[in-house]
Amino acid sequence: MTKPALLAPHDETPPLAMVIFGASGDLTSRKILPALASLADLGRLNENFTVIGVARTKWSDEDFQEAAMSNSAAAGDRWRNLVKRFRYISGEYSSTKTFNQLKQLLTEADELHGTEGNRLYYLATPPSVFSQVACALATQGCNVPGPGGGFCRLVVEKPYGRDLDSALELDAAVHTAFEERQIFRIDHYMGKETVQNVLALRFANAIFEPIWNRRYVEQVQITVSESLGVEHRGGFYETAGALRDIVQNHVMQVLALTLMEPPTGMDANHIRDEKVKLLKAIVIPTPDEAVDRSVRGQYTAGIIDSKPVVGYREEPEVAPDSTTETYVALRLGVENWRWAGVPMYVRTGKRLPHRVTEVAMQFHNVPHLAFEGELARQLRPNALVLRIQPNEGISLHFGAKVPGEAFKVQSVAMDFQYNSTFADSGMDGYPRLLHDAMIGDATLFIRTDEVEQAWRIVTPYLQAWSEPGAGLHFYEAGTWGPHIADLLLERTGDAWRVPEL
Ligand code: BG6
Repeated sequence: MTKPALLAPHDETPPLAMVIFGASGDLTSRKILPALASLADLGRLNENFTVIGVARTKWSDEDFQEAAMSNSAAAGDRWRNLVKRFRYISGEYSSTKTFNQLKQLLTEADELHGTEGNRLYYLATPPSVFSQVACALATQGCNVPGPGGGFCRLVVEKPYGRDLDSALELDAAVHTAFEERQIFRIDHYMGKETVQNVLALRFANAIFEPIWNRRYVEQVQITVSESLGVEHRGGFYETAGALRDIVQNHVMQVLALTLMEPPTGMDANHIRDEKVKLLKAIVIPTPDEAVDRSVRGQYTAGIIDSKPVVGYREEPEVAPDSTTETYVALRLGVENWRWAGVPMYVRTGKRLPHRVTEVAMQFHNVPHLAFEGELARQLRPNALVLRIQPNEGISLHFGAKVPGEAFKVQSVAMDFQYNSTFADSGMDGYPRLLHDAMIGDATLFIRTDEVEQAWRIVTPYLQAWSEPGAGLHFYEAGTWGPHIADLLLERTGDAWRVPEL
């Protein structure tokens, strides 16, 4: 029998030498080092653990150790003691010298810190060097465990390619160096407790599954809204845009978990097989149909949280005539027995009024409403809303009688809130994903066929929008995106929900 990975006890991690490429970069300081520090504090890191940082920046071991401490200010003694052994290599990714040095330090780590030949490489570099680093590791024989080691794994950050062709090319290159079972592609949304809770809600309860289909669900809306702009990432964002940055990965993952068939087991391959099957059922439109079923937008100056903010084109490192989209809305369809004909609306954007991510399953209206009066007419359809962030929880919306003699009905909500039910928020996000990569549980990581299919789904939109400025609509920062996005739904008599905060 296959091990139920998501349900397995998540014990201490094995002895390990972790190598971070891009060690002086933003992702390492904001996410990876703090995540490692929190794992150390939770007692989840093996005492035979160490980190080797590699980057082009001219740093010493001490500089890297200082960065590890300063980016994890609240970390305690366990982390402090580990950090003292961290090493740093300053070098080019194209240079054999860098990888020879790495080999030496890995041997040293085995000898001095008992890392037992286990390796975890983390590619936190710009994506342009992903394949170069992976191939150099193989050339130097670093793509296998060291002497006595049990495993050698490669964690790859997003973006995994910038379109289907480049993703396939990257995959082909990485696969010459590492086998698929060694590759852990990160999508940090999969590390969110509430995203994983979609599985619990659907498959640990008997009452939802019977209504989780076209007979009961009238439409699905997924919103990933951010009030932040592009911050200091304008340069990167110019090469990406909202479709590549959020839809191809985070939205597709959430959609797949929400709509897939029940897996036979909760292990990596059973879950990922079902996700891929679902992704393959998403209708791929022609570029013309894609134009009709999508809206792309870009924010202009406006007000967020009562403060004025600049427009996208005024952000640092953004071209003054940029046509990169910061907002996307799509009407998707899923061609399978369960979902045929149910519109799936997704939207994401920066500089929208709030940071909120939710999945809303909206059910059909009753066939005949016998109640009279204005309130009854205003009754909203039943909806089940999975609030992924920030106010994590689930709410069920239904009609209830208003107290009093007259028989009036009104929409009300039954609400489950994560933080009032569970005192311990557990290991969320990066610590959870890093921990899983260390223990070799790939359930929450993205398999090659998922990445490929997700690119296939977004390709027609990329093609349709490839003309500069094609169909780009502007929206004021602090609003819910371009008004024209309403038309995507109005044609079917639907409207965007106001997300729950
Ligand atoms: C990242 C995107 O993957 O996700 C960012 O590159 C975005 O642009 C971020 O801001 C959103 O993540 P979260 O966890 O804040 O919803």
